[in-house]
Amino acid sequence: MTDATDILEQLSQIQAAALEELQRVKDEAGLQAWKAGHLGRNSPVMQVFTKLPQAPKEERPAIGQRANQVKLALESAFSTRNETLKEAALSQALQAERLDVTLPGREQAPGRLHLETRTLREVYHLFGEMGFQVYRSPDVETDDFNFGLLNIPEYHPARDMWDTFHTTTPGVVLRTHTSPGQIRAMREFAPDPIRVILPGMCYRYEQVTVRADIQFYQVEVLAVGRRITFGDLKGTLTQFARRMYGADVRLRLRPSYFPFTEPSAEMDVECFICGGKGCPVCKQSGWLEILGCGMMHPTVLQNGGYDPREFSGFAAGMGSGRIGMLRHRIKDIRYLWEDDMRFLEQF
Ligand code: PHE
Repeated sequence: MTDATDILEQLSQIQAAALEELQRVKDEAGLQAWKAGHLGRNSPVMQVFTKLPQAPKEERPAIGQRANQVKLALESAFSTRNETLKEAALSQALQAERLDVTLPGREQAPGRLHLETRTLREVYHLFGEMGFQVYRSPDVETDDFNFGLLNIPEYHPARDMWDTFHTTTPGVVLRTHTSPGQIRAMREFAPDPIRVILPGMCYRYEQVTVRADIQFYQVEVLAVGRRITFGDLKGTLTQFARRMYGADVRLRLRPSYFPFTEPSAEMDVECFICGGKGCPVCKQSGWLEILGCGMMHPTVLQNGGYDPREFSGFAAGMGSGRIGMLRHRIKDIRYLWEDDMRFLEQF
């Protein structure tokens, strides 16, 4: 036997031993150990390559070729075994973690928008079509913006209309209405004409009843420009109410008083519950108040930076919760912010 046949014989043994050992490998760790031992740098087959230069020149091709075959055979056996073990692990996992597909699924509760959000979006839409933009103003205001600049000086009896939450900082209050936004919008846009609505939460320190809560949404309407008249006010608000409540809704404007408008009015809609005959909800009057409004007081225009001899404007403020109540015949305004799902899911 020559050296070469000796080495070729050895290579066959190397292959046989390695393959036999591979069959006994049972897991990933064993597989990696096997790979290091039989295909790694110091493995027997790799050693044959390393020592190849020492073999007689004419024998090298045969040895090299055979060593290559062995190496390829081991590599392919390795990947086959790898696959087999992976499949075995998977089917074992499937067995162990069996899924019961006959169990009924868990129902996904689809979300929805809060009733108030939907009402507000409708209000934005209706006024948007009449050219009004949404303008945001802060919930926390100074006494000056909430009252003084709106022509309600300190000690003015009209302050009694707005029970107020005061913060611990003197002169800083939670806004009692969205009207302070009138001043902010005017100061931003003067002397340009304005058509905006100002939505937002308002806060009043008062007794909670079925028709009044300590916090509620208002939408302020503001139009400032040259030659704006009471006719524009009436037309705009009537158009809004008809689109909100239906084309044949009965409306009335009643004289009223607000320090920041002159003349002032309140708009009523016919009571939906009794059809105008009189019931407990409308306090037997047949009418429900939906908003306060009026022509802007010259002093307020001036405080906003407009010359009242040249400019005029109208403003209105409505509680959007009241709108939702009227449309859906909700009998208690407190439901709106109580977050009771049984109530909210009805809309
Ligand atoms: N701010 C008034 C209120 O909350 C409503 C109002 C707004 C009246 C604008 C007239 C003009 O009662």
